[in-house]
Amino acid sequence: REEAQSIVLVDDPTKEAKRTKIFAVPELVGSRVRVQGWVHRFRPQKTNYFLIVRDGTAMLQCILTGDCIKTLDALDLVTESTVEVVGTIEKVKEGQTAPGGVELIVDYWKIIGRAPGGADAFDGRLQPDTDASIRADLRHLELRGEIATSVMRVRALLLRAFRERFHARRVTEVTPPCMVQTSVEGGSTLFEFDYYGAKAYLTQSSQLYLETALPSLGDVYCIQESFRAEKSLTRRHLSEYTHLEAELVFIEFKDLLDHIEGMICEVVDILLADPVSAEIIKTLNPDFVPPQRPFMRLDYRDAIKYLNEHGILKEDGSDHVIGDDIAEAAERKMTDQIGRPIMLIHFPKALKSFYMKALESAPDFTESVDVLVPGVGEVVGGSMRIADLEELMAGYRREGIPHEPYYWFTDQRKYGTTEHGGYGLGVERFLAWMLKRYTVRECSLYPRWMGRATP
Ligand code: 4AD
Repeated sequence: REEAQSIVLVDDPTKEAKRTKIFAVPELVGSRVRVQGWVHRFRPQKTNYFLIVRDGTAMLQCILTGDCIKTLDALDLVTESTVEVVGTIEKVKEGQTAPGGVELIVDYWKIIGRAPGGADAFDGRLQPDTDASIRADLRHLELRGEIATSVMRVRALLLRAFRERFHARRVTEVTPPCMVQTSVEGGSTLFEFDYYGAKAYLTQSSQLYLETALPSLGDVYCIQESFRAEKSLTRRHLSEYTHLEAELVFIEFKDLLDHIEGMICEVVDILLADPVSAEIIKTLNPDFVPPQRPFMRLDYRDAIKYLNEHGILKEDGSDHVIGDDIAEAAERKMTDQIGRPIMLIHFPKALKSFYMKALESAPDFTESVDVLVPGVGEVVGGSMRIADLEELMAGYRREGIPHEPYYWFTDQRKYGTTEHGGYGLGVERFLAWMLKRYTVRECSLYPRWMGRATP
């Protein structure tokens, strides 16, 4: 038995091979390595098989020759099979290119998990004209493709960068609930559900909860899913999206604007300095230029003037007037013409939620801001909040909202009130802007929109 065991060990082709993830392989030139991954590309030739193997950390070119292509597995190999490959890492020859500048000369390999060939074969590439609903049904496979992978990678780096900048500013992360019994942005987009016999909703925004954390933790933020029962299909609306929200205490409106601008610019700088995200941004959005500070600050009333002076009309063909909610198309047209981020400020009170602070100089308008970016439109919405109890009660009345369920929010104005403000940023919209994606649906792992909650 002892002898048999030693034979197995001596014959074990993976012995002496260093098990590694692909990202570390360029440092291992000359070493024998053992790598596991998915076959991303497969090019069989008479005497050589070229594989590109992907393990989620990077890609590796692998070359199979000789006995390696005379196995049963070699006959069955198709893209998206999982494989184990063992061999020596070499630098690629002068004039040739491969991911990481290296390749694996394979001396042993096997299939771990087979994939279908023929009509069911998949190589991570959907044809650009693939029907949108088929594409959505195949999201779990499309995610393996290079573009989706790149977007998800930048998404992760973006969230990390925001967390880093919040940490640097002493803003503390909290996790408010998703199941709530109050609305923040009006009843028309609430998803309602039965909560042990009572009415409850999926959160539209964690803002009110963030406000209650101010006296406890000071400035706070959260990165939480928000839900909106949007009743139209647009490029920039999801039913569930990742909402990055912050609430800042003892500030004025100008501080809020400076903070938002600072966060956006610093996060963009971090992503452009990181080699992984920088490369992806260069590939997907070669014309991207970091926004210049300060952002243009455009009063709502001046925006109405701008729209009329530039012939950007309302949907019914008429001129805009003060008090109009600027429609998505008009807003985007204006933003694209101006061609850089805009802070659109001072919206009419009548268009905004019950909690927004009025402008002292013009009480029918509010200390509010939307950040608009070319190609996408609104990526951030924020405002100063009403600090005064009576004013807040008037806000509930104006909007016809019963104040009782909001007692915990109202209490903030009773127990040591103060000026404060905050904002919410749509993570998918921010990504769509930086990576020049046509729709926010490409920027969510499993996007949800009207009628779509699968896969
Ligand atoms: O402008 P909104 O509705 O503001 C709020 O919810 C505030 N309570 C946030 C706050 O002050 N804490 O939403 C904020 C941002 C928008 O600018 C947009 O980027 C994103 O959330 N957003 C959506 N993103 C994708 N799909 C949707 N249906 C979205 N609705 C809003």
